[in-house]
Amino acid sequence: MNAIAIDGPAASGKSTVGYLVGKRLGFVFFDTGVMYRAVAWAVLEQGIDSADGKAVGRLAEQLRIEVDAPDSDLSDGRQATILVGQADVTWAIRSPRVDSIVSEVAAYAQVRRELTRKQRRIGLAYGSGAAGKAGVVMVGRDVGTVLLPEAPLKIYLYAPLEERARRRFRELVERGREADFDRILEDMRVRDRTDSRRAVAPLRPAEDARQIQTFGATVEEVVEQILVLAAARLGVTPSSPED
Ligand code: DC
Repeated sequence: MNAIAIDGPAASGKSTVGYLVGKRLGFVFFDTGVMYRAVAWAVLEQGIDSADGKAVGRLAEQLRIEVDAPDSDLSDGRQATILVGQADVTWAIRSPRVDSIVSEVAAYAQVRRELTRKQRRIGLAYGSGAAGKAGVVMVGRDVGTVLLPEAPLKIYLYAPLEERARRRFRELVERGREADFDRILEDMRVRDRTDSRRAVAPLRPAEDARQIQTFGATVEEVVEQILVLAAARLGVTPSSPED
């Protein structure tokens, strides 16, 4: 199976690095977090109380979430287009309001059951060459431990909390959004705790994951490190970075 699992806490570099690794290998890049974010967005949109696990679980079962390759006309930096029903929520799911409830939403067993089933199916399909793709890079919190434990290469990215909060702050500012550093830092601290202490599929490195610190390394360095591991474990050859 040609699958690379990349896990780690918020803003550890998973999406940036995973996307580039996927591009170099001709693999599909799939960010599992967007599906939890889509559920959290719908919770806010429908005025559901995020503390009501039953209602949130029911919503996750009913919701039609679609993750598509981006339209080539849309050059706004998106890695994928996320639809909930007809609504394009690609950027709406990145709001601080979604950030502040997504971990709570992702901790409900019913929500995880629903999304895990879909995500594992997607991972197995692309990992075995569906749609002419050479493989899949899946990123999230439980890819190596729960979603694709059979992945031949598992990576766990990490960086200090303050550094990760700075990255999130910069991302928001670059998109012209309002950003409050102290609030981002505090939200991230709470989210780290919720993600790693929840009962179902908590954030933790798989026993056989390679752990990589992303603070102090450039994106390119981390990408190259993973590509070397991928060549050894999966026998795949990357294209050059300019392609
Ligand atoms: O990677 P992210 O920040 O976009 O993820 C948003 C939330 O979704 C994160 O706080 C925890 C949850 N998540 C999860 O529980 N399992 C995954 N595989 C991916 C994300």
